[in-house]
Amino acid sequence: MYSTNLWHPCSQMKDYETLSPLKIKSAGGAYLYLEDNTSVIDAISSWWCKSLGHRHPMLITALKAQLDTLEHTILANTTNNTIHQLTQKLCRLTKTDKALFASDGSCAVEIAMKMANHARVIKGQTNKKKFIALSNGYHGETCATLSVSDLGLYKKAYQNLLFDCYFINDIPYVAGENDPLWHHAEQHWNVIEEKLKPLISTTNAIILEPLIQGAGGMLIYSKDFLKRLAHWCQNNDIYLIADEIMTGIGRTGKMLACAHADITPDFICLSKGLTAGMLPLSVTLTHDRFYELFYDDYETQKAFMHSHTHSGNTLACAVALAVLKVFEQENLICYISDTLHPALLANMHEVADTTGQLHNIRSLGGVIAADIKHPAKNRHGYEIYQKAIEFGALLRPLGNTIYWMPPLNIDIDTLNKLKEITIKAICAVRK
Ligand SMILES: Cc1ncc(COP(=O)(O)O)c(C=O)c1O
Repeated sequence: MYSTNLWHPCSQMKDYETLSPLKIKSAGGAYLYLEDNTSVIDAISSWWCKSLGHRHPMLITALKAQLDTLEHTILANTTNNTIHQLTQKLCRLTKTDKALFASDGSCAVEIAMKMANHARVIKGQTNKKKFIALSNGYHGETCATLSVSDLGLYKKAYQNLLFDCYFINDIPYVAGENDPLWHHAEQHWNVIEEKLKPLISTTNAIILEPLIQGAGGMLIYSKDFLKRLAHWCQNNDIYLIADEIMTGIGRTGKMLACAHADITPDFICLSKGLTAGMLPLSVTLTHDRFYELFYDDYETQKAFMHSHTHSGNTLACAVALAVLKVFEQENLICYISDTLHPALLANMHEVADTTGQLHNIRSLGGVIAADIKHPAKNRHGYEIYQKAIEFGALLRPLGNTIYWMPPLNIDIDTLNKLKEITIKAICAVRK
């Protein structure tokens, strides 16, 4: 009944011979409803974007209302009230002045990298061409974003298409906000700073996922390290690009992860949670000091000529405005700190204690992760994933890292069900 022409993203298609794709009939809140009349909990918010769950009524209302008047126009040479309002709100939220929209996260990162590069060209700083990134970082699937990502699995076959990047090692990883390293990472920083010194004159920008490295294994690092690195960038004429595509719009318990370290980077990239995953939208936010570099007579050829057909799609912008409203009306930031985060912690500790098979529990805001102790086989995590589906949850571990990144408004009952399913799945594999 289903097309065999479909090539699924990020999948070894042969795996589907033994585990067919979930046949989804509908979705609502934290649940996916399947054609066989069973349901699974979406424990990873469908690739980390469904921050308000599936089919949030306020988002549907906003989308329907927008459909009645305007769905999309070319964004060069046009504007509209919806995107005007959204731009104002996003700039206020991020303490920036200008927003350039695209549709996917990778494109937003690529825009930030191109803007940083172009700014150096306009300034005549021809020596400042290189990018620095963090080891275990991930910034997307296009060639430029893969170049600054540190995940061999995703980039090995394309090495000839990529450029060199320096990756910072020995990052001070933490278990969470109570870890002493979260507040004080001076010793780590001193070692890293020494290694960075020789790179100052040739470096254009540092790009990083602030505080949580998602695809790299849900690794959480010190807010003090982030703050020190940001100040170092500022003092050494190195731009800072914050890839908040996964962390932004509430995921870490603040609207931006950068707010934990009280920093305002030169470029901020948002996507995923921006529309709570309802429609594709991304944005690169920056400051007037960059915008003004590009602002001149047309003949000077300084304009930033980057575009995508669906840049700033109006329907997606209407949904993004509604997302910001939901955060206020449902007081979600408080819900994350008072209810969701403590429940995630208590539940994952219970899973670890009951199964005896998890360690390195780490958590920030609405994210929690733990590693399988001494995994028995290569794809231990994958086997747990298969079992969890049978028992009613879409877990999709990252290798041998089990994590939950549920919708931020998920209720405690569902979280408790997720805990029981995770315990059952882990125990079923290690029999
Ligand atoms: C931190 C980060 N940057 C960039 C991306 C790429 O976004 P997209 O998949 O929308 O291109 C992702 C996707 O997971 C991400 O987590």
